[in-house]
Amino acid sequence: MPVSEGVISALIELKRTDDEGLTAQLTSQLRDLIATGRLGKGRALPSSRRLASDLGVSRNTVTYAFEQLAAEGYLEASHGRRPMVTVDGGRNEETGAVAPSVRSGKPRLSPWASKLKQTDWPMSYQAPLKPLRPGQGDAREFPNEVWARCLRRSAVRAAKRELGPVNRTRLRQALAHYLAASRGVRATADQILILPSAQAALTLIAAALITPGDDVWVEDPGYPGAAAAFRASGARVMGMKLDEQGMQRMPGLAAPKLIFMTPSHQHPTGRLMSLARRTEFLGMSRPGETWIVEDDYDGEFHYDSRPVPALQGLDAHGRVFYVGTFSKAMTSDIRLGYVVAPPGLVGTLEIAQRHVGLIASSHIQEALAEFIADGHFLAHLRRMRRLYHARRDHLVEGLERHLGEVLSAEVPSGGIQLVARLKRGRADQAAVQRLVEAGVETRALSSLALGRPRDHGLLLGFAAWRENEISAAVRTMASCF
Ligand SMILES: Cc1ncc(COP(=O)(O)O)c(C=O)c1O
Repeated sequence: MPVSEGVISALIELKRTDDEGLTAQLTSQLRDLIATGRLGKGRALPSSRRLASDLGVSRNTVTYAFEQLAAEGYLEASHGRRPMVTVDGGRNEETGAVAPSVRSGKPRLSPWASKLKQTDWPMSYQAPLKPLRPGQGDAREFPNEVWARCLRRSAVRAAKRELGPVNRTRLRQALAHYLAASRGVRATADQILILPSAQAALTLIAAALITPGDDVWVEDPGYPGAAAAFRASGARVMGMKLDEQGMQRMPGLAAPKLIFMTPSHQHPTGRLMSLARRTEFLGMSRPGETWIVEDDYDGEFHYDSRPVPALQGLDAHGRVFYVGTFSKAMTSDIRLGYVVAPPGLVGTLEIAQRHVGLIASSHIQEALAEFIADGHFLAHLRRMRRLYHARRDHLVEGLERHLGEVLSAEVPSGGIQLVARLKRGRADQAAVQRLVEAGVETRALSSLALGRPRDHGLLLGFAAWRENEISAAVRTMASCF
């Protein structure tokens, strides 16, 4: 029930013996009257002089209470005027909290935030994991006991260290070693920034380099998270077609500010970018003018031949950012990724990293440094490579045997997912819908296109699923088509 003028003071009961000070009591009781709707939006409160006199307290007590409620957004208090209630009362029944929204109306967002909604992409699936969701490694095969020991030792070391400095270089050194030996990346530990994800690396790079209106080239179809990060920063994102050699340069276009690519296993097709194409793109990039971002998200997994080294290793002029993640090689819950930055940009990215607080947990960094140094990381990768290789072949065989008439599987030389193109028609999104209703989760190739989709098919994950699960999913698919 709204309170009528003059009775506000009658509803307030201040206990002078209470431990809680008078200002705190008054603040909390006024807050409550607003929260429950008894003092409605637009309602003017008595002046501080009048309320102080009615309650028998000092004017300062009332003024402080009004100031506190104004700071919390419940009141608008301007000098010389009676304070006004600015929220619609009505408590959230579950939490007891009142909606803090002060004024209605559309918030005026920054240009960056305004673009987020248009560029959002369905990356984090809310629903439980279903076969054959792409982009997943098998978390069930992760050596949790070994990892738990590394985490425990990291926590114990932190407890012993007390006020000593955290060792921030150990993981970066281990990573520099690993990347040089297995991916041909040329970098010192100082060039590596450890972040909570590869996506964080893309966002930092965009924030550091993109001026609204700059051109950014990406693969089409490609990884939506990259297009989103660059678009949100105001870039004009242009999709480059693919052929057998990977991303193609569109003739007649001036060199862009940045080129994003996944040369080891193109996302989503799994194709390997040829050496000729790598050299062509490197040749057109200029330090300070055109940069390349190489996303090597699942380069650890290769099955048919020796892996092709990273493009970053061919760059002698500091034009390439090399981005990686532990989401695929370990588990996505670990939340660790990294970027190897060109020497001239390390300092800027480090400052940007601190500004936006994209600092990865030191405990987990130390545990991972030990996991790598003790050989567990390489052992895990070796085991997963064998397992995923067999699963890839199992899925390809199943698709050929049961769905050969409708789908044509492209066999990637590595990675954790594959593309199966529709042999007839273009209705890949309708197929995805039918399949998900039957319990098989896939991704439509056309949904990964930047412009008008040219490719129609399904993106299927094989790494996260046991062979019997893959067989069951293929049988379900066959019954749906
Ligand atoms: C091509 C590609 N790059 C980057 C990522 C993101 O990795 P992270 O989980 O570390 O952000 C993904 C995730 O699916 C991906 O497919």
